[in-house]
Amino acid sequence: MSTMQKLLGWVDERFPLTANYKAHLSEYYAPKNFNFWYFFGSLALLVLVIQVLTGIFLTMNYKPDAGMAFAAVEYIMRDVNYGWLIRYMHSTGASMFFVVVYLHMFRGLMYGSYRKPRELIWIFGVLIYLVLMAEAFLGYLLPWGQMSFWGAQVIVNLFAAVPVIGPDLAVWIRGDFVVSDATLNRFFAFHVIAMPLVLIGLIVAHLIALHEVGSNNPDGIEIKKNKDPVTHIPLDGIPFHPYYTVKDILGVVVFLMVFSAIVFFGPEAGGYFLEANNFIPANPLKTPPHIAPLWYFTPFYAILRAVPPIFGSQFPGVAAMGLSIVVLFFLPWLDRSKVKSIRYRGWMYKTWLALFVVSFVTLGYLGLLPPTDTATLIARICSVIYFAFFIAMPWYTKFDKTKPVPERVTG
Ligand code: HEM
Repeated sequence: MSTMQKLLGWVDERFPLTANYKAHLSEYYAPKNFNFWYFFGSLALLVLVIQVLTGIFLTMNYKPDAGMAFAAVEYIMRDVNYGWLIRYMHSTGASMFFVVVYLHMFRGLMYGSYRKPRELIWIFGVLIYLVLMAEAFLGYLLPWGQMSFWGAQVIVNLFAAVPVIGPDLAVWIRGDFVVSDATLNRFFAFHVIAMPLVLIGLIVAHLIALHEVGSNNPDGIEIKKNKDPVTHIPLDGIPFHPYYTVKDILGVVVFLMVFSAIVFFGPEAGGYFLEANNFIPANPLKTPPHIAPLWYFTPFYAILRAVPPIFGSQFPGVAAMGLSIVVLFFLPWLDRSKVKSIRYRGWMYKTWLALFVVSFVTLGYLGLLPPTDTATLIARICSVIYFAFFIAMPWYTKFDKTKPVPERVTG
């Protein structure tokens, strides 16, 4: 026995290292027909690592103080060795996190990955998405630019629209009557430690749930239902390592090429990843002419603006915006189809999914623009389609004509 084997044996008697390696990698059987859409889970993990690492280095040089924060970011950009790289990786990472997560969620919608027995994977996913949005919002205040300040002002004020407790709630969140140094301090605390801890905890839960039931696949077939009678290995399964570790490395390489191209050649991404107004220090006395959140929030911002106020209260819009995310939790129970994957669904689901995606993207675009009468009308139509996709789901999935699902995966 080699020294390495002896060492491993020593560890295994005290900690289930080999057992876990086998259970989750070398003897974890995943469906053999994963396609392009299965890259994004591991890529989301990669972006998480990038954000945590660059975040640690940014924190070393940043000052969460309303009088110093803006200058601290400029100092990082100009004076700290490779500070510009660390900051651009972090700002690009924030947007790329949402690109990857939106594609990951879309895959779930296509293949019915939220359906039984994966309801909890989905629910943890929606919670991750909510925390990710909170994390991005909190982080955006930290550079203390005009958009940081006024964006936070607008969003925190939304809480003031909640009946009865609203105004007190907004003061409680800010720690002041306006966005101020107290707000910056607490947003910093939440951004660098509280939210990342919750996020990591939820991701661990997401993956534990995933490994309990196993992955879905583009055919929506449960591979565990078809096992080899002798070895009990799923006939359509292949070991995660080395097959999918190699596949995921390909995804990582291509992703890093795109990521580096943005970081090195266009970190502002035409104003979509970093807004021009945020290079101006926060000025509580001067409201920018047009305040729009970053692109990943704009579909929800458009829904907020599409709902007209009732008796001067913005609450209906705020409620609609909240509901547009909460409704995702119910997806596993809204879908009544006999099949999971879009491959075997009928025209109704395909049409609704296409309409849903078009409305979501349109809402995202409209949310970036100043509101006009035509834009508001289109946003209203898109918001209705967005909600109808979920509300009408029990019917159109039930009556949709499905195709027969094969016994084994088709590749
Ligand atoms: C930081 C964010 C996230 C990370 C790191 C993450 C990670 C992963 C990984 C590694 C997988 C397995 C590989 C794959 O299927 O691509 C997975 C599967 C899955 N995730 Fe996520 N995820 C995240 C966010 C989300 C969100 C926001 C949702 C939905 C709201 C979601 C829903 C799912 C579902 C349904 C599966 C199972 C897919 C299948 O088997 O077809 N995830 N996730």
